[in-house]
Amino acid sequence: MELQREKKYIRLDQVSQQEIDMLILRVNGCSWRQTFHIQPVSGLLNDPNGFCYYNGEYHLFYQWHPLGPFHGLKYWYHTKSTDLVNWKNVGIAIKPDDYFDSHGAYSGSAIEHNGNIYLLYTGNTRDENFERHPHQCIAIMDAQENIIKLEKSVLDKVPVGYTEHFRDPKLWKEGERFYAVIGAQRTDKIGCVCLLSSSDLLEWNFEGELATTLHLFGFMWECPDYFEIENQGVLIFSPQGLEPEGDLYQNIYQAGYVLGKKIDLQLQELAHGNFVELDRGFDFYAPHTMEDPNGRRLLVAWMGLPEIEYPSDINGWAHCLTLPRELMVQDGKIIQKPVQELQSLRKTKVETADRISHEKKVYDGFSGVIYELICEFEQGDALEYGIEFRAGEDEKTVIKYDAEQGKVILDRTLSGKVIGSTFGTERKCGITEKVYKFHLFVDASSVEIFVNDGAEVFTSRIFPDRKSKEIRFFATGGTAAFKAVKWDYK
Ligand code: FRU
Repeated sequence: MELQREKKYIRLDQVSQQEIDMLILRVNGCSWRQTFHIQPVSGLLNDPNGFCYYNGEYHLFYQWHPLGPFHGLKYWYHTKSTDLVNWKNVGIAIKPDDYFDSHGAYSGSAIEHNGNIYLLYTGNTRDENFERHPHQCIAIMDAQENIIKLEKSVLDKVPVGYTEHFRDPKLWKEGERFYAVIGAQRTDKIGCVCLLSSSDLLEWNFEGELATTLHLFGFMWECPDYFEIENQGVLIFSPQGLEPEGDLYQNIYQAGYVLGKKIDLQLQELAHGNFVELDRGFDFYAPHTMEDPNGRRLLVAWMGLPEIEYPSDINGWAHCLTLPRELMVQDGKIIQKPVQELQSLRKTKVETADRISHEKKVYDGFSGVIYELICEFEQGDALEYGIEFRAGEDEKTVIKYDAEQGKVILDRTLSGKVIGSTFGTERKCGITEKVYKFHLFVDASSVEIFVNDGAEVFTSRIFPDRKSKEIRFFATGGTAAFKAVKWDYK
């Protein structure tokens, strides 16, 4: 146990360059490396952090354990982009090398102030008994992208009434004051969100717990995010400990939102509607948003989950981030659209249209490993219609509409190497309107499917054989007409 713990907290500078090069070589030899998603050069990526726009560029950081595909000592890794499509690896942003973050520079967020970017994050520490003690810490990035931590943490104690699970502050500014929501666990082991505030980002006060109507909703809420959109308040968070309910809450942990009135900072209260999962797929957690200069609310999430092994682990790396999505409110619900900049990836285009009856068909040019596909269906009287993709002799991933159940179903039973199968191999989502559109972004080991222009999204890793390339359209129990267009990205 002692040895394991020590191994887990090895720092990058305790390892020789040769060992790192060997690891990177192994990673680069992996056939599941992604091509248009943010992924780690080695080791494990988890939550997106500090997403912001500064000096003409988007900056996006993420939780990174460089030395292997497990949750060891976490660094912040820095990437940036001018177009949300082509990301440049900048390098390590925050090293866990101070008394207040000695056991990991955990999740946090960014805000511009006085011409600099302030990063507020959780420093994870462990005492001699291996008990965790979180600090809240500030690092400041200047225009040259130098990042310097303050000498001391800005909050070094957990407030009375909460356990040491107190982390992941997300910043915003209201009038002249800065606020942060922070994920917490009460001493009665109930998850919740607390509020912090500051006038200068350097001195922080604990304001209290944010009152919601979700009183018994899991044991810990990670990565909260509060923002306003179209005059409404939105609280996104990742609750742990929800039991599955029908088609809901099927993953080990959830990620979703409540939409309601704007937050009442005086009363520390949020009046809101039901909790809604942001994504219906298998691999989506810790979503994190920012408002860009065009006023768009952009979201990126970790395309992975805690405590689950992934097939790329043997190649020395795990996980990637989702594509950036733009959030909008429609009919009292948040909808998500892939950012329009992604269209710049489109290269060769093929199209087809057909009416299919009780059959499964393939079409010229419709195959591949890395592509974007839009398929618009007219239901007709088919009982089921949909698409099989990354399909081969024994493999396929299926997205379909089941008209009898009124549900969209993503099936990865035969998607290749198995992931977290104890949590099932199908995800379903009831949908009241007619399903007319599946919009897929397929990378070497993932798929993001936007249903009906972002009314629902299914995000999942898949690990098929490189040879499984077929795309098949099908209608069972009747007829369905469709038209499809596909763009290769490479
Ligand atoms: C969520 C999380 C956060 C924490 C970070 C550590 O995935 O557990 O709560 O800050 O990951 O990497």
